[in-house]
Amino acid sequence: MAGRGWGILLADSESRATAAMTPRLLLVLTLCVSPSGVKGTPEAVSQLRVQCRASRYPVAVDCSWILPPASNATGPMSFIATYRLGVAAPGDSRPCLQPAPDAPRCSVLDVRLFSMVPHVLNVTVLRPGGAAYRLLPFVPERLIKPDPPTGVRLSQVSGQRLQVQWQPPQSWPFPEVFSLKYWIRYKRHGATRFRQVGPIEATTFTLRAVRPHSRYLIQVAAQDLTDYGEPSDWSLPAATSVALGK
Ligand SMILES: *[C@@H]1O[C@H](CO)[C@@H](O)[C@H](O)[C@H]1NC(C)=O
Ligand SMILES: *[C@@H]1O[C@H](CO)[C@@H](O)[C@H](O)[C@H]1NC(C)=O
Repeated sequence: MAGRGWGILLADSESRATAAMTPRLLLVLTLCVSPSGVKGTPEAVSQLRVQCRASRYPVAVDCSWILPPASNATGPMSFIATYRLGVAAPGDSRPCLQPAPDAPRCSVLDVRLFSMVPHVLNVTVLRPGGAAYRLLPFVPERLIKPDPPTGVRLSQVSGQRLQVQWQPPQSWPFPEVFSLKYWIRYKRHGATRFRQVGPIEATTFTLRAVRPHSRYLIQVAAQDLTDYGEPSDWSLPAATSVALGK
């Protein structure tokens, strides 16, 4: 009986947590879109473009920002970058690590995985005239974009078969735990369109029925196995060094 009571209690607090999410997310979106989160020199800072990417998930989320060149900055400029979990607790912010105070980038190293509330990055621009900040809410899983696979190699297996091999991106820290899947695209030299195959989970693939006496160009892209975020850019192309079938 007691166990059952707890179950109900938990379910109830969970559903309340879910109900609380909606206004919170709306607040986050409002902060993100409206320039009211900006003080000091609004023209410049409302145009501060901040973006974050998790190409080495789950170790870090890497963020960078640019100020428009027309912001007439005179004198030294530096940045303070912090983040916190959720919008409600402003006190508990942690540094987003910058290589130097004037570097327009930082890394969140203590990523909370699968968090119910977003992380909120606060980039503050400090200049002689004053300070202004910009907030960016993000969910780490949605920012996943691996770097392209490396070491793409081609070898001819037989007259009409071509084997492609590659390695996971070196920046992806735990490919055994956070598996990747891959897309392959290839085209015959001179053809206008690529053909695409995938996704596959192996790091090798055999193209069958390739046309003899033709050169092929092949690229591979990586994506989180569970479809979070987006696929990587295409790798550097690998090409057959000699025409096949010679
Ligand atoms: C920046 O400089 C341009 C031209 O020098 C001027 O027209 C503009 O008003 C300045 N903007 C600010 C925010 O000072
Ligand atoms: C953003 O960071 C700056 C500098 O640490 C701080 O003064 C400001 O209150 C922060 N803004 C919010 C909304 O947390």
